[in-house]
Amino acid sequence: MSKVIKNGTIVTADRTWKADVLIKDEKIFAIGPDLHADHEIDATGCYVMPGGIDPHTHLEMPFMGTYSTDDFESGARAAVSGGTTMVVDFCLPSPGQSLLEAIQMWDNKSTRATCDYSFHMAITWWSEQVFNEMPQVVEKGITSFKHFMAYKGALMVDDDEMYASFQRCAELGALPLVHAENGDVVAGLQARLLEEGNNGPEAHAYSRPPEVEGEATNRAIMIADMAGTPLYVVHTSCEQAHEAIRRARQKGMRVFGEPLIQHLVLDESEYAHPDWDHAARRVMSPPFRNKQHQDSLWAGLQAGSLQVVATDHCAFTTEQKRFGVGDFTKIPNGTGGLEDRMPLLWTYGVKTGRLTMNEFVAVTSTNIAKILNMYPQKGAIVEGADADIVVWDPEAEKTISAKDQQSAIDYNVFEGIKVKGLPKTVLSRGEIVVDNGKVQPKPGHGQFVAREPHMAVNKALSQWKQVTAPRKVERTGIPASGV
Ligand code: URP
Ligand code: ZN
Ligand code: ZN
Ligand code: ZN
Repeated sequence: MSKVIKNGTIVTADRTWKADVLIKDEKIFAIGPDLHADHEIDATGCYVMPGGIDPHTHLEMPFMGTYSTDDFESGARAAVSGGTTMVVDFCLPSPGQSLLEAIQMWDNKSTRATCDYSFHMAITWWSEQVFNEMPQVVEKGITSFKHFMAYKGALMVDDDEMYASFQRCAELGALPLVHAENGDVVAGLQARLLEEGNNGPEAHAYSRPPEVEGEATNRAIMIADMAGTPLYVVHTSCEQAHEAIRRARQKGMRVFGEPLIQHLVLDESEYAHPDWDHAARRVMSPPFRNKQHQDSLWAGLQAGSLQVVATDHCAFTTEQKRFGVGDFTKIPNGTGGLEDRMPLLWTYGVKTGRLTMNEFVAVTSTNIAKILNMYPQKGAIVEGADADIVVWDPEAEKTISAKDQQSAIDYNVFEGIKVKGLPKTVLSRGEIVVDNGKVQPKPGHGQFVAREPHMAVNKALSQWKQVTAPRKVERTGIPASGV
């Protein structure tokens, strides 16, 4: 059955215009005036935009002795209800586990997803086996590799391992990602704080200051440069990290930065809340920062030095958070946001004038589709693209509350915030998954999106590295050795 979205204003990353969108066989078939189809979706007064892409989720992830509570079913439901039609989740082998075995596990987890998804592969340990499996991972369409510079004794990799893995990424035309915090220093600060009796959730923030993130970001950028690969820095939360990215880009390096909606909207005062649960529910890494850091992140989105807004959706219930009563280092790290990212960014970004509508589309969808080499299959309103579309009602309002959410946890870190601008209708590859604001989940409809390596920036950078590679000077006059 063909569908047409009528009477709306299309907003993409580069233009805004009035036209209808005709959908056939899961794809955008035509764009233009006065189109007709079997089923009409009215978009009067609404914007018609590429569905959001959240490139940073942890659904049903084994972490800190438990599993994140939202899985591919509740997580994808939360995603579409907020206008996000694709997630990229982290496939996380436990240290020592085969990468291919981990993909099998993630394939099994994701069978009931309502929206499309892809995976990043995490490099949680290093060996000849990992080195040998990386090309097979790329062949399966997973072309980005995440490295944790924190979580010492668990997921953290050292500089030599990271350098080896980045070099492998360069050879394979893949993109390395980093969680940039100095894990050794964090571990030291955690131990000192606990020793001093600082065991509450506020100590989580004290143990991960901006300097720790800034140093690691600089280090990762240097290692990527030496390895000759582009770099994507996840959850950039502070000026120090942003400064490192900004400086690298200004020098011509291919470095991308991803602030989270949580860091843009919530600040460090959350950890001073007298209620332990309130503060612990907001424990994530990096922690929330102060207003100056938030301003820096917003400015980065405006200036283009930061390119993507994600969520790092990693939702734990209050009961799970309470594993850390008496010891903040045992509070599972992570917060939710999948459902709220787009409405919050619209409210705090577009409605305040900090972002244009086109910039909104760029940072929620198009930029990451390009960075991950999925454009224009995803992130675009063009003929032939997947019909992942959100019909956005700029006048619709709601107050965020856990009682109305799709996420399976018992609270929402954005509870009580009023948002204006909500999805009215959402299509996932042509299927209506939100109809007039009502979620109509289609578990199992979501498909894995395979990606190709050797993206344009990889090719350009490896070309440049060849042009500027050290070359032996061929000399004519060579003095006799020894005297
Ligand atoms: O606190 C966080 N961010 N939890 C999820 C894992 C990670 O570090 O991204
Ligand atoms: Zn008609
Ligand atoms: Zn992280
Ligand atoms: Zn994460």
